[in-house]
Amino acid sequence: MRFYPLEKLINLHDNYTREFKIDHLRLLLMQRRGQLYLCEARCPHRDHPLHAATIEDGVLQCPLHHYSFSLADGRLLRAGEEPCRGLRVYAPVYEGNEVGVVLDDEG
Ligand code: FES
Repeated sequence: MRFYPLEKLINLHDNYTREFKIDHLRLLLMQRRGQLYLCEARCPHRDHPLHAATIEDGVLQCPLHHYSFSLADGRLLRAGEEPCRGLRVYAPVYEGNEVGVVLDDEG
């Protein structure tokens, strides 16, 4: 397990959205209404970038086909006809004046 720092706390604010790349992983860090969310940066449905996704009450909706996912556990909440796995979500980890993510060594 390893801590990867992503952002300084001082830089976070509501409507903050930024994508990070850690090796092959692309992560999206977002703050909405004081709540910080961290998930994979591409939609599990058809790989659409999620930086413009809407987030309401902890639910992320992909702008392309409007599949929706819980940001709490990644559960698929709304889908079209095509099957889709859940969204990979990560717990933001605070260390000192930064927030980051803890990943196992394989990512
Ligand atoms: S690519 Fe996201 S819902 Fe289809």
